[in-house]
Amino acid sequence: MLSTQSRPVIEATLPIIGARISSITPNFYDRLFAAHPQLLDGIFSRSNQKNGTQQQALAGSIAVFATHLINSPETLPETMLARIAHKHTSLGVVEEQYPIVYEHLFAAIAEDLGDALTQEIADAWSEVYWLMAHALIKIEKGLYSQQANDVVYSQWKLAERTEEANNSVTFSFEPADDIVASTAKAGQFVSVRMPMTDGLRQVRQYTLSGDVENTARRTVTVKLDVDGEFTPVMHNSLKVGDIVELSNPYGDLTIDESGAPLVIATAGIGCTPSAAALSTLAARGSTRKLTVLHADQEYTAWPLREQMIESLSKLPQATLSTWFERGELPEHIEAKSGYMDLSDSLTADSHVYLCGPLPFMHAVRGQALAAGVPAQHIHYEVFGPDVWLAA
Ligand SMILES: Cc1cc2nc3c(=O)[nH]c(=O)nc-3n(C[C@H](O)[C@H](O)[C@H](O)COP(=O)(O)OP(=O)(O)OC[C@H]3O[C@@H](n4cnc5c(N)ncnc54)[C@H](O)[C@@H]3O)c2cc1C
Ligand code: HEM
Repeated sequence: MLSTQSRPVIEATLPIIGARISSITPNFYDRLFAAHPQLLDGIFSRSNQKNGTQQQALAGSIAVFATHLINSPETLPETMLARIAHKHTSLGVVEEQYPIVYEHLFAAIAEDLGDALTQEIADAWSEVYWLMAHALIKIEKGLYSQQANDVVYSQWKLAERTEEANNSVTFSFEPADDIVASTAKAGQFVSVRMPMTDGLRQVRQYTLSGDVENTARRTVTVKLDVDGEFTPVMHNSLKVGDIVELSNPYGDLTIDESGAPLVIATAGIGCTPSAAALSTLAARGSTRKLTVLHADQEYTAWPLREQMIESLSKLPQATLSTWFERGELPEHIEAKSGYMDLSDSLTADSHVYLCGPLPFMHAVRGQALAAGVPAQHIHYEVFGPDVWLAA
């Protein structure tokens, strides 16, 4: 909770800092990388710096946290903190790095605000930073302690690669060292770290798309981004027998165990968490009521469709509905032309899981809220820095 002396200062300066924070964060990252260039080698994504999404996510998260401290002082924005902490732990962020981020963030704030930054304002915003940092450090320590080992990365060998629809490839890895692997849950992701063409290492996150509970195998399905840095290297250079580094599994888009009706709605490559959930539930012989919805450009562009349809055939209480923007509709599953419509699929007690492009998730979340599903029962995964939550 904010101290009584900081609260009025934050209330008074939130509109100014909120408006300035998006121009402060690029300066912060410039300073951070100038002082610690090694952070660009295998920790921060160069692309998320260039396309601005990381600056946006950081700026938004600080503004959201400060606003939450003012409006709901008794609680913390748990969902946002958990999302950041899972990302941080998949990258090996540690407590000792928080003072470094503080130093460069506050230098950037000081430069931006100039004489307007009084000691009182600096102290109040330092308090916000450290409240957020300590909340994150606590969650991150808890997440690290749940793993079966104490390393950030272990070595995995590519055992199999399968071409999927729409420029996607499924990569299955087997352990290439003696480190005990942690058990994953459906919906979790791993960070994959590899050297790029200039030798610098980059990291990206991939949701496990199958073999989730098998600690001797990690399987991810990766869609090629022709404008991206990492996926062209993965698609074009990674051969069976090659070694990559994989983090322990993280992520909180895991299926709740309450037994409430589940609705999993995905679009495009966003089907990976759904594919993982379906295989896992099918392997357990689940009889849970489950509605699976998928939207894609066309039927033949849907990656992992055979795996998902096969898993669904083993789930007696599961139904599948699909929507395709173009192309011939398949006859062996329920399929419609156009965009996803949830109106027939939801009851107010549903737990809804979403994954896909942001405009898709905006639309589908709106439909779920309109159907009376409480916001806390609508979970989603953004395949990039979460600029939605931060907004
Ligand atoms: C939790 C999580 C789970 C994920 N799961 C999956 C999954 O299961 N499957 C999957 O395929 N993906 C998944 N992703 C997405 C994945 O992590 C990568 O973001 C994606 O593969 C693109 O990586 P890339 O390196 O090829 O593209 P990047 O290099 O990261 O580029 C991304 C975009 O940034 C822009 N960009 C790049 N360079 C520049 C530049 N110089 N200037 C301006 N803009 C630029 C381009 O628009 C490009 O399309 C997941 C992401 C997260 C966070
Ligand atoms: C209070 C301090 C911090 C805040 C508020 C913060 C906030 C964030 C946010 C919002 C994201 C994006 C999460 C997402 O993907 O949705 C993120 C990612 C990240 N953070 Fe932090 N963070 C903090 C401290 C740190 C520290 C100390 C480090 C260590 C150097 C760090 C390293 C990273 C990295 C490497 C990423 C991923 C960036 C990318 O994909 O390029 N963060 N952080």
